[in-house]
Amino acid sequence: MMKRALVTGVTGQDGSYLAELLLNEGYEVYGMVRRLSWENYERIAAIRDAITLLEADLLDEYSLLTVIEKVEPDELYNLAAQSYVPTSFDQPVLTAQFNALGVTKLLEAIRRVKPDTRFYQASTSEMFGKVREVPQRETTPFHPRSPYGVAKVYGYYITVNYRESYGLHASNGILFNHESPRRGLKFVTRKITDAVARIKHGLARELRLGNLDARRDWGFAGDSARAMWLMLQQDQPDDYVIAMGETHSVRDFCEIAFAHVGLNYEDYVVVDPHFYRPAEVDLLLGDPGKARTRLGWVPEVSFADLVTMMVDADMRRVADERPLVGGYV
Ligand code: NAP
Ligand code: GDD
Repeated sequence: MMKRALVTGVTGQDGSYLAELLLNEGYEVYGMVRRLSWENYERIAAIRDAITLLEADLLDEYSLLTVIEKVEPDELYNLAAQSYVPTSFDQPVLTAQFNALGVTKLLEAIRRVKPDTRFYQASTSEMFGKVREVPQRETTPFHPRSPYGVAKVYGYYITVNYRESYGLHASNGILFNHESPRRGLKFVTRKITDAVARIKHGLARELRLGNLDARRDWGFAGDSARAMWLMLQQDQPDDYVIAMGETHSVRDFCEIAFAHVGLNYEDYVVVDPHFYRPAEVDLLLGDPGKARTRLGWVPEVSFADLVTMMVDADMRRVADERPLVGGYV
């Protein structure tokens, strides 16, 4: 019999890659979506007919119970979240309701309806925040620096707690930043690659950014999705850091992205304090040793290839957007 997987956040970057992977692995795939006034299924357009979408919301525990009753999933991947760190400073309560209490609601629904469901929680390197050691690994203490990070720490520990209290097969993936051509346009990598394409096509003159010295351990979202799936294939639930094991600054990202189309980032990037954060995460660098050893997880896309993949995709997209007539350079 085909295994059934339920993915929350299926319309997001990671959800779309994970749904594709699960289909390729022969799963019956269900995606949880919230009701919006306008459907936002662009990222899952290619697989829309191959998956089943069900409406529910992390804020509404009854809708979660109903979805789990309907699907009776073998595996549930909780990717839904308010995922943008600056918004968490503006909407700290809503962020906690989605990213902290939402996890409890899902775990409780699983416990009541189908306790043998394997559960994946999308935890994050943002929990390390003001880092206590370098590189960060599964045993590194947390020190979150945003309402987003704080809420995710709760989500992490409630997952551990349901594993320890009720024996649920519940695992945390502590994922470091991962990007792709499907990344939301506000996140720094995509903001840069979109701007590079617009500048190259003569549609923009500058790119305004905040802290160019922040360092992240950036990988490819498709590689991250494979790690999530591998975690739920293990006999025992556990928590894993998923990272590339290398760190780069926002400035490094700019340099490679602009150079890829023959431009010098220093001619276009303007530092704008508007994009600084009330508290910053200066340096993230993960140690993926446990995932490599226990899961056999090895990323396939390098940092440099990720940057050029994103720039190339935005160059094509922006070119297609150009009107047939007009005065672009
Ligand atoms: P994303 O592109 O922002 O997608 C978030 C998804 O959550 C969207 O499908 C969104 O639905 C859904 N969602 C938000 N609030 C919801 C609610 N109340 N009820 C139901 N669905 C809701 O994020 P992502 O980059 O794919 O990240 C996936 C998960 O991994 C998130 O939990 C994020 O915090 C975590 N994470 C991401 C990274 C990373 O670098 N990407 C690293 C570590 C952890 P709509 O389409 O309707 O908005
Ligand atoms: N978004 C943004 N916009 N970030 C900027 C900008 C800008 O104009 N200029 C500099 N940055 C810096 C931020 O200050 C931050 O240090 C870094 O670029 C990365 O910012 P984001 O791309 O917004 O990602 P993030 O690291 O805050 O959060 C992402 O990764 C987390 C995992 O560590 C998100 O995907 C989170 O959901 C995820 O948990």
